[in-house]
Amino acid sequence: MPVLDLHSHVLPGIDDGSPDVETSLEMLRLSAQQGVEAMVATPHFYAWRNRVERFLRRRQRAFEQLAPHLLPGLPDLYLGAEVAFFEGISEAEMLEELTLEGTNVLLLELPFRPWSGRDLDEVEALIERRDFQVVLAHLERYLMFSENRPLLLELMDMPLQVQINAESLLSWRGRGRLLKWFRNGQAHLLGSDCHGVEHRVPNLGQGREILRKKLGQDILDRIDRAGARLLPEGKTNVE
Ligand SMILES: [Fe+2]
Repeated sequence: MPVLDLHSHVLPGIDDGSPDVETSLEMLRLSAQQGVEAMVATPHFYAWRNRVERFLRRRQRAFEQLAPHLLPGLPDLYLGAEVAFFEGISEAEMLEELTLEGTNVLLLELPFRPWSGRDLDEVEALIERRDFQVVLAHLERYLMFSENRPLLLELMDMPLQVQINAESLLSWRGRGRLLKWFRNGQAHLLGSDCHGVEHRVPNLGQGREILRKKLGQDILDRIDRAGARLLPEGKTNVE
């Protein structure tokens, strides 16, 4: 089971993450030093700014710039997207193109605003009707909207997976709740959501260390198993 970082902005020049190949490589090196063996590149996809075809072309171009430098010792790189929620997403065509390549795993970023019951209905439809394995990106970041808290619990009851950002475990404020989520099986995956080498840096290793200290190695094994189940079978993009 590889140690997986399933949320990263490591591809160069495509979003507000890595600006160039050099930074991307440094991010990959830092990740490898922390024991990360596989990474999913998840550039932001905003339906209101971008068309799927164009996004995929740009992602491919960014990957091709990086690919010749992906030497052994760096994490295996998979292509994905962080898809921002939009009204009507559950009906949107071509959503399948934005999953983790070779899978039906959809990393979904919920809106940073108070949610409605209709938003939740759409998430449910993505799971039930569209058959996506939905992973909710950094669910803890929505706790700042206190009115979302009851809906957040409803979401957690759906057959989906919850990803927490490693950074959120590094500060003691709010950490207790996240540890409880992991302990109770309400949070399943950890991501770095790294954007660069100076700001929002690769920190999966630090987050994992906190989890290991507070909850024991078992929780990391559980996270690694959950991560391994998401990855496509067979060859990686790097090979
Ligand atoms: Fe992100």
